[in-house]
Amino acid sequence: MSDWNPTQYLRYGSERLRPALDLISRIQVESPDSVYDLGCGTGTVTGILQERWPKAKITGVDSSASMLERTRDIETGVYWQHADLNDWQPESLADVVYSNAALHWLDNHGQLFPRIIDGIKPGGVLAIQMPKNFSAPSHTSIADTVREGPWRERLAPFQREQPVAEPSYYYDLISQMSSSIDMWETTYMHILEGANPVVEWTKGTMLRPLLDNLNNEEAEAFLKLYTEKVAKAYPHSANGKTVLPFKRLFIIAVK
Ligand SMILES: C[S@@+](CC[C@H](N)C(=O)[O-])C[C@H]1O[C@@H](n2cnc3c(N)ncnc32)[C@H](O)[C@@H]1O
Repeated sequence: MSDWNPTQYLRYGSERLRPALDLISRIQVESPDSVYDLGCGTGTVTGILQERWPKAKITGVDSSASMLERTRDIETGVYWQHADLNDWQPESLADVVYSNAALHWLDNHGQLFPRIIDGIKPGGVLAIQMPKNFSAPSHTSIADTVREGPWRERLAPFQREQPVAEPSYYYDLISQMSSSIDMWETTYMHILEGANPVVEWTKGTMLRPLLDNLNNEEAEAFLKLYTEKVAKAYPHSANGKTVLPFKRLFIIAVK
């Protein structure tokens, strides 16, 4: 199974942090006892959750050893748990379950979301952010590049073309288990520097499982084809920078 590359992921750390902070700022919980960060990755956001609730027991959960390895830089009292969210349960009912940019990597949200809510105390909060950019050229060009190459059949199982449903789907799914729900979408306009910044961005996320399943020559050919498509869709602005619009879905449910 392919693993994450924390260095590539953190290349756009400040752009990736902003939605995480926007989500935290909307959670209205005073003094929780237990907080979980699902798919905590390198733990940057988990550390911020602990700064917000210093008296709470904060646990970061992730299935990637290489991402968790980076949490050593977080000098806090956070607990780290190496676990797969596909069959994860909290040790005891949680006050806050937070997840930033992670649950779109898991299938079957129809079972996953209710199972996560089952692990929250009545009155507790579920706070989730997932990318909703899968119809944008940054992502559709990945699917096109897969279809156009000799790697088509090999890579098909690793593609995630539409892993996040419409907000109404999540509303129907969780409204019966929640006393209130707040949902919104935001399109961030990331101003990126460099020759092919959109390619560098997706290399840290959606391209990762695909490139890991190609040999060096194939990966080079794949990236060349993908870069040509992306360059047309995201031309450099007059000052050489590139604007990447990126839509994200936020859900906050009080149980
Ligand atoms: C894009 S990173 C987000 C990391 C962090 N939440 C942040 O905001 O910086 C997605 C994380 O989800 C984790 N992840 C994906 N599938 C998972 C699973 N089935 N179980 C646990 N973690 C998973 C990955 O290992 C990765 O660290």
